[in-house]
Amino acid sequence: MRIVYHETTRIFHLYNHTVSYIMTIMRNGHLGQLYFGKHIQDKEDFSYLLETCERPMTSYIYENDKSFSLEHIRQEYPVFGTTDYRQPAVDVRQKNGSRISDFQYQSHKIEEGKPKLPGLPATYTESEKEALTLTILLEDPVTRVKAELLYTIFAEGGALARSVRFCNGGETPVWLGRAMSLCLDLPDHEYVWQQLSGCWARECHIHSRSLEPGIQAIGSMRGHSSHEHNPFLVLRRPTTDERQGEAIGLSLIYSGNFRIQAEVDAHNTLRVLAGIDPETFEWKLDCGEVFQTPEAVLVYTDQGLNHMSQTFQRLYQRRLARGYWRDRARPILNNNWEATYFNFTEDRLIEIASKAKECGVELFVLDDGWFGARSSDHAGLGDWKANLERLPHGIEGLADQIEELGLKFGLWFEPEMVNKDSDFYRQHPDWILSTPERMESHGRYQHVLDFSRKEVVDAIYEQMAQILRNAKISYIKWDMNRSITECYSRIWPADRQGEIYHRYILGVYDLYERLTSEFPHVLFESCASGGGRFDPGMLYYAPQGWLSDDSDAIERLKIQYGASMCYPISSMGTHVSVTPNHQVFRNTPLHTRANVAYFGTFGYELDLNKLTQEETREVAEQVAFMKKYRKLLQFGRFYRLKSPYQENEAAWMVVSEDQKTALIGWYRILNSVNGSYTRLRLEGLNPAYCYQNTKSGQCHYGDELMYAGLITSDMTAGQKPSCVKPCTDFESRIYILDAVENCC
Ligand code: GLA
Repeated sequence: MRIVYHETTRIFHLYNHTVSYIMTIMRNGHLGQLYFGKHIQDKEDFSYLLETCERPMTSYIYENDKSFSLEHIRQEYPVFGTTDYRQPAVDVRQKNGSRISDFQYQSHKIEEGKPKLPGLPATYTESEKEALTLTILLEDPVTRVKAELLYTIFAEGGALARSVRFCNGGETPVWLGRAMSLCLDLPDHEYVWQQLSGCWARECHIHSRSLEPGIQAIGSMRGHSSHEHNPFLVLRRPTTDERQGEAIGLSLIYSGNFRIQAEVDAHNTLRVLAGIDPETFEWKLDCGEVFQTPEAVLVYTDQGLNHMSQTFQRLYQRRLARGYWRDRARPILNNNWEATYFNFTEDRLIEIASKAKECGVELFVLDDGWFGARSSDHAGLGDWKANLERLPHGIEGLADQIEELGLKFGLWFEPEMVNKDSDFYRQHPDWILSTPERMESHGRYQHVLDFSRKEVVDAIYEQMAQILRNAKISYIKWDMNRSITECYSRIWPADRQGEIYHRYILGVYDLYERLTSEFPHVLFESCASGGGRFDPGMLYYAPQGWLSDDSDAIERLKIQYGASMCYPISSMGTHVSVTPNHQVFRNTPLHTRANVAYFGTFGYELDLNKLTQEETREVAEQVAFMKKYRKLLQFGRFYRLKSPYQENEAAWMVVSEDQKTALIGWYRILNSVNGSYTRLRLEGLNPAYCYQNTKSGQCHYGDELMYAGLITSDMTAGQKPSCVKPCTDFESRIYILDAVENCC
């Protein structure tokens, strides 16, 4: 890994074995983008890659020179309103109303490691040798606003982290109307755009289309990253698939309003912008003040989508997630939400927990409804004190009882919200986000606390910390169940109201930081009505997130498959729930529900007392299985094998670091009569190792399994021999492969 600056040509080259990123200081002092892609060897001069040519209907910077127009140059951080008519990365409104700026190169520095981004989640290094960071200082000569562009290249893999830090070095305030985290100008638009989109209970579905002239975008203006669009984009070549070909992944480490867009211009070059959503953002930068953008991560690969995903998964698992639980196998939990909803007593909870313990579960999680006057979603949010009518021994007493059963205890919070019917709201009616003289919309009868105000965050922190200090709590599910409306804060002046969405999310991060620092052993799981804020920003504080409120195994195939494009398996909250399922009312076999949930943090979302004896035995076996294999499942190398978006079958697998164990999940959605022969070409095995298939007892070399494949055909339906157990719809199997010394 190196970052080189070539003085004579004024060219920067960041590279490792996988990628190269090359840019130059142009004659107007701005930065030009020359190359981002597969590693190429370094040399002094790449300036030919800066294509400029005279074109009609163009505006030029220099008198008597029709070759230099920003409109036709690929740039690193383009400004608004001069000769470039594409969307800019930055827009600085000044006191006189002008929005023109001119960020010119001043200096740069190269350092080992990676600086922290104050108040924001970001990737990090644990040793200086893991990454190099280049900081390029630009300045606008009129306003004296400085922009520092940060580029980090990691020693391993094709990932680059980028962000921008602004500082107003002038004598008058300015307003940033947009401050994107990155711009990536690419020389052509021959890419398929692939996004993860959906809605509540249908998150992270893969949608693809080819790029057309104009702007295509995803984003959120809801105050959270949203169920609708994940802050993640893939640009892949049309011929790229899971196993081969070029792809660029772009992920924004941010949980608030965002925009990721691609603009194809008239000459088929491509501008990608990613950062805070400019529509809902304006930031006043007073003299001497600093504004740091969120971080964006770019991943380049020429080895297909699986490889791109593995790069993200490893980086995010090891160098974005933090703390005690980062590398630890996650406890198997039983959450009471779908078992009881709001309708529980202490005795009922103990009954559920006792049965869970019998089955080997390790953690009991009490969901919504334990506090204040919370007997439905109409009241109680904000009053984080146990409801003693329901829980006569309080949270402390309940936690003690759960611990006595031999389980750990976890608790649900929704810290950012209040119901109007709560003591907290009655004491502080002006602590919610709402616009004076305008109606106050609600979502699920709740209102959003103004987390841009420190005293609000402090008050919630105190309530939560109090509970955590007094009761034996090992896990917190942090929920967030409505989007922001009428976003306005009572304490900030008029010219800072554009900051509130971002300040809100900074408040959320601050609360997370304080709680995770004071209670480092507590496992945090983020949640926002399922996956409404399942994003890399959250992963920095909470190493796992409840991926979707949809717990149906078949629905989950698409959701988990989609999320695996960017997120590690250890980050995905996955539970077995009852049938008929509560979201789609579908009946799926118990083993299929578990076979899908194994590829995640794993738990149960039901009352195990309600299962038959046979089912309870099966659950105990599932728990024992997960305990044996969870380290591999959650931290192994993950491969997608068959897409539920394309076929009636889905499959994925994990392989251990030493390639000695592999575990394959195979799923068939609908049964078919007299079906086809099917096989799975496996991946990531050692071709020379002999693997025993624990299901069939047969042995095969890694190369056979990868190139000839693992046979998955079965006697599906119709005239099956009497000795074969019938398959139903929603069939699935787990195959385990163990490397053996002597091939059988
Ligand atoms: C959200 C969560 C659920 C559950 C409920 C409780 O919908 O996603 O898992 O916690 O809130 O109200």
